[in-house]
Amino acid sequence: MLADKEGLSRRDMIVNGGKAAALGAAALSLGALNIAKNADAYEYASEYKYVKLDPQEVGQLAYENYGKRWCTSSVIAGLVGNLQKKGAGGWKNFPIDAYRWGHGGLAGWGALCGTMPGAGVVIGLTTKDTDTAEQMVNDLAFYYSYTELPSFTPAKVLYADIKHMTIAGTPICHISVGRWMRVEGVGFLTKQRVERCARLSANVAIYATKMLNAWADGKYTPKHKPLYNVLANGITSQNNCMDCHGHDVPSPNETYDTLTK
Ligand code: HEC
Repeated sequence: MLADKEGLSRRDMIVNGGKAAALGAAALSLGALNIAKNADAYEYASEYKYVKLDPQEVGQLAYENYGKRWCTSSVIAGLVGNLQKKGAGGWKNFPIDAYRWGHGGLAGWGALCGTMPGAGVVIGLTTKDTDTAEQMVNDLAFYYSYTELPSFTPAKVLYADIKHMTIAGTPICHISVGRWMRVEGVGFLTKQRVERCARLSANVAIYATKMLNAWADGKYTPKHKPLYNVLANGITSQNNCMDCHGHDVPSPNETYDTLTK
């Protein structure tokens, strides 16, 4: 078996954590297990520097930006605006609006909530290491999916008063905002929904700042293990199968004969 030939068993992949998770989708489907040999070359260069920031200030700035920039670029604006204020290297002319397309789960497609890729841009540019960036983004997805949000309290309410927080159970924009809309009893094109997503942007920016601050002190340790669901489920996934499939969750036809399960 190829896996054995390459010395890459499922156990190895689990032991190798982040690298295996990153490899999962790409390497396995391409059958290009020799990519694994290059998996140690996971650091990269970037001119962008991180200095520790006040999480509340980052959150407030992200919140204030939402009305004109929406989720992805607002999270970036919260982080980058504060990095600029502190004179951190590289950020002076950073094109914050180059990421606006991420709003509404990718230009309104309701896919991945744009707050996390916003934070991920800054995390990726500053940590300069794929494993660390993946660990942080993984922690962020857990936080986003399994915390009652939005819990951020703005200095002054800019859009509307809102009553509810919800647990998304997923990083998917449509499901996340849909669950909140149902509980709040409002439509998508309402000031309340704007307020919710603005506060959510603040929450994500704050959480990212806290992780990056810990990392700057050399104290960041991942809270969560990466999802090994490509191996476990035979498809990129989290464990919320019934959200969409109801009780009829399909099992994958394909099993990877390259892997020892
Ligand atoms: C966000 C919605 C959503 C979630 C969550 C989800 N799926 Fe799917 N999945 C789909 C859709 C839509 C398809 C396309 C096939 C269809 O329409 O039935 C699909 C296809 C699949 C397929 C390939 C089709 C087949 O019959 O072999 C598998 C396997 C699968 N899902 C398994 C899972 C498993 C296991 C989970 C949980 C770990 C999961 N899905 C979670 C929406 C979802």
